[in-house]
Amino acid sequence: MAEAFEERYVSAEFTARDSDIEASLRPRLMRDYIGQDKVKENLEIYIQAAIGRGESLDHVLLYGPPGLGKTTLAGIIANEMNVNLRVTSGPAIEKQGDLAALLTNLNEGDVLFIDEIHRLNRSVEEVLYPAMEDNALDIIIGKGPSARSIRLDLPKFTLVGATTRAGQLSAPLRDRFGVVLRLEMYTPEQLSQIVTRSAGILGIEIEPYGALEIAARSRGTPRIANRLLKRARDFADVMGDGVITEETADLALSRMEIDHLGLDAIDRRLLTAMIRGYNGGPVGLETIAAAIGEEAVTIEDVYEPYLMQIGFLGRTPRGRVVTRAAYEHLGIAVPEDGAKQQTLF
Ligand code: ADE
Repeated sequence: MAEAFEERYVSAEFTARDSDIEASLRPRLMRDYIGQDKVKENLEIYIQAAIGRGESLDHVLLYGPPGLGKTTLAGIIANEMNVNLRVTSGPAIEKQGDLAALLTNLNEGDVLFIDEIHRLNRSVEEVLYPAMEDNALDIIIGKGPSARSIRLDLPKFTLVGATTRAGQLSAPLRDRFGVVLRLEMYTPEQLSQIVTRSAGILGIEIEPYGALEIAARSRGTPRIANRLLKRARDFADVMGDGVITEETADLALSRMEIDHLGLDAIDRRLLTAMIRGYNGGPVGLETIAAAIGEEAVTIEDVYEPYLMQIGFLGRTPRGRVVTRAAYEHLGIAVPEDGAKQQTLF
C-alpha cells in the first residue's frame, strides 16, 4: 500500500524528496505568492488592520487539499507581521506538556503553525482553548483532592491551523478561529506562472509551452508542479539540450505515465476498478479501498479531490460514481442500458 503511494509522482502529500527544494521555492512575501486571490486579498486586509492597531493577528484556519500552500501562507503571515514562525503538527503534539512547552517558548506576536490540526488529541486540544481565547495556560499541580490549577499568562500569539478536513475539527476548536480560509486548486495558468518562477530560482531553462504542459498535468497543485519540473529537467538534460520545451515536458510526463489531465496509473486503476468491478458505481469508499489496496482516507484526501474537481467522480448518498467524462477519457464504452445511462452525468 505504502509503496504505491511513495512511488507516486502526482501525490500531493509532502515527502522527504520535496524538502530540499520546497523551502527554496517558497515565496516569503504575499506579493510573490501566485493564485488564491480571494484568500490573499482578505488576508492582506486583516494583516494590515492588525499591524495598524499594533495587535497580533487573529487565529487563522486554512483548509483544503494537500500541497496547495498552507505552510507557505503561514510563513508569509509571519513575515508580513514581522514575527517568528514556529512549525509543528497535530500528530507531533502527543501530550499536554508538549503543547505547553511550545506555547511558553513563543515571543509576543509569534505565529504558531499547527499542520494537520484535526489530528490533535482531545486532551491537547483542551490546553489550546484557554491559550487561544485568553492567552492563558492552565496547569494542574498535584494529584487527587489536593490538586489545584494555576493560570500562567502566555504572550499574545497567532495560531495558524491547517487541515485537509475542516469537517473533522471539533466545533469548540473551529469556533475559536477568527479567520477561516479555504484554499482552492490552482488553474493551469497559475501553475504555469509558479513553474516558471521556480525554474528561475533553480536555474532551469524552460519555454512557456513547456511550463504550461507541466502545469496542465499537475492536478491543480504547486507541490506536484514543482516536483514534475525537477523530473522534466532530468529528461531535458539527458535527452535534449537542457531546455524544457513542450516536447521534453511531454516526453518526461509520458514516461512517468502521467496523462494529459495529470492522472497517473493509480488514478486510472481506481476508476477502472470501479467501472469493471462495480459497473461504475455507486460503490462505497471502503469497497473501493479494498479493491485497489489503498486506505480509505488516502483515497478520500489524495485521489478523490482532483477526480471530483475535473468531474470524473461524483458522490451520491449510495456511494461514489464514475462519470461519463471519465469513461470517455479512459476510452471505455459507456454502458448501453437505460438505467445506467441515467446515473451517469
Ligand atoms: N510555490 C509553491 N506555491 C506557490 C505559490 N502559490 N506562489 C508562488 N510560488 C509557489
